[in-house]
Amino acid sequence: MSELVLKNICKEYENGFKAVDNFSLEIKDKEFLIFVGPSGCGKSTTLRMIAGLEEITTGELWIDNQFANYLDSQERELSMVFQSYALYPNMTVYDNIAFSLQVRKLGKQEIDKRVQEVARLLGLEKLLQQRPKDLSGGQRQRVAIGNAIIREPKVLLMDEPLSNLDAKLRGQMRVELAELHKRLGNTIIYVTHDQTEAMTLGTRIVVMKDGIIQQIDAPKNLYENPINLFVAGFIGFPMMNMIKARIMIHEEMAYSQRGRSAYAENEMFYVFEKNRIQVTGYVKEVLLEKDYRGQDVIIGIRPEHISDRPTMNATQRITGEVIGRELLGSEIILYFSILDMQLSARVEATSTAQVGDKMDFFLETDHFCVFDEKTEENLMYH
Ligand SMILES: Nc1ncnc2c1ncn2[C@@H]1O[C@H](COP(=O)(O)OP(=O)(O)O)[C@@H](O)[C@H]1O
Ligand SMILES: [Mg+2]
Repeated sequence: MSELVLKNICKEYENGFKAVDNFSLEIKDKEFLIFVGPSGCGKSTTLRMIAGLEEITTGELWIDNQFANYLDSQERELSMVFQSYALYPNMTVYDNIAFSLQVRKLGKQEIDKRVQEVARLLGLEKLLQQRPKDLSGGQRQRVAIGNAIIREPKVLLMDEPLSNLDAKLRGQMRVELAELHKRLGNTIIYVTHDQTEAMTLGTRIVVMKDGIIQQIDAPKNLYENPINLFVAGFIGFPMMNMIKARIMIHEEMAYSQRGRSAYAENEMFYVFEKNRIQVTGYVKEVLLEKDYRGQDVIIGIRPEHISDRPTMNATQRITGEVIGRELLGSEIILYFSILDMQLSARVEATSTAQVGDKMDFFLETDHFCVFDEKTEENLMYH
């Protein structure tokens, strides 16, 4: 069993900078947990506090029901893999993997058994007599992982382990790491600034910003139900579209049109410049209840919920000018501008839209997120 509990953990560096603020989290046995966020948000600091490489300023760390704030790094039985993996250049792969067991003076046979096991797990059997300089980046990183897991740590801590690899290898190693986690069945805490990596690897993701946890959730929930504008924008590529709009109901509309009322009573609209999109259903209920009449909001909509043709779900039309076109093979990302905003739509590869075209796009309003313009919270978060 390996469960970690972090209670209100803060880190203030000697220069007074608060890198981690009130971080609370329970990490369950066998979880593949990800810390993700932009550079400088406190991911490595948090991981290093868990590892015992950085002092915890205030708060509590518990490892398997043991108070661990003051435990030595070794006593914590955790292993860490870093971005820049330090292998011993003059030692073979075998010795690089076996090193931590040799230091502990385990028997030769026992060491050999475990090295062979780990090598099999990582597909390094044929490379055991090579030296690091003869290996590719991916192979070297596998050796570093082998070195970390041979001790059978309670928890494996990984800090951007794939950042130094090229894109193709990174993709491959992602798949391997997911496999490895299944086979090892241990707890992994994995730090990355890359939301794709987070979304594909994690069973649960902790999104951080400026040392503060924003949201802890499964990948799908983060994507579909972000707690605020930051999480909505950080998770997903191309980024969620953000449209500034004002909430208006019939009376206000009628007033602004000098008494000419074109809509039935109590209808509610998002209004931006000449565009009016009717608000219905649950969203309308929430906005009425929270009294957002006349208030500014930000509508969030993912590129896959904007279509280049009307569909059953995509009914609300807006007109924009195409400013970019990216063929991704099976689909096309169209970038278009409307007023001073840049939006993107994920459309079928058969689209003939070209840069410069003025064309209609259709929005699936059921998929709108609505954010308060000032607090940036998602009013639809549930
Ligand atoms: N030893 C230190 N002294 C002062 N500030 C530090 C120190 N180490 C890191 N920081 C600052 O703490 C913040 C978080 O750093 P870090 O945890 O490395 O971020 P991340 O891993 O998310 O990129 C950054 O603003 C960084 O500059
Ligand atoms: Mg870092």
